[in-house]
Amino acid sequence: MKTPRPLIIINFKAYSETTGAKASALVKSLEAVYLNYRVDVIAAVQTADIYRIAQVSKTPVFAQHMDLIGPGANTGFILPESVVDAGASGVLINHAEHQVPMDTIEKTVERAKKLKLTTVVCVADAAQAKAVAVFEPDYIAFEPPELIGGDISVSTAKPEVITECLKKIRLTTIKTELLVGAGVKTRKDLEISMRLGAKGVLVASGIVCAKNPAEVLMSWVAEING
Ligand code: G3P
Repeated sequence: MKTPRPLIIINFKAYSETTGAKASALVKSLEAVYLNYRVDVIAAVQTADIYRIAQVSKTPVFAQHMDLIGPGANTGFILPESVVDAGASGVLINHAEHQVPMDTIEKTVERAKKLKLTTVVCVADAAQAKAVAVFEPDYIAFEPPELIGGDISVSTAKPEVITECLKKIRLTTIKTELLVGAGVKTRKDLEISMRLGAKGVLVASGIVCAKNPAEVLMSWVAEING
């Protein structure tokens, strides 16, 4: 049986290698993998880079955050409509590095749905996954904060919590898919996550801080496609 088509969301965060002109170049190099292999790749980039990247890229672009403001006197906040206008097709919500209260998660998912943005809500554990599943985002990304940026992956350290997250989500909805992230560095991490029922991974340093990000991405998916 063919392995399901994986989804790999690459969080560019705000590394010096992943902003400005370097961000567009990086997306273009990753795009070659997206276009030639059986994999969905999405780049979650700095708000200031969305427009620049969307202009040159076929890879879908997501915002890393947006604020619950409407058009008007709101200096410095990220207007959801601007994110759409700039060319983003989705948004990360409640990333471990940019957490928001539960009622803000709910309203942001609602707002994003109205704007037809794909929603990825990040959670730290199965209890949070259960709470967020009620809002039926497109994806819930389980990312244990203590493993983010490290070398021990979520699929090695917490496989049972991945299963638990999926169970909790399925008790509430079949509309929301699970992603997993934190410390994802190898094809095996992707494979284990998918075997446990995840649709794919949310990854940052394993790809964007690699010497050759496109080569790493290709090595993960070439096997799956083989
Ligand atoms: O959003 C992805 C992230 O928080 C995981 O980071 O560097 O452990 O892949 P990293």
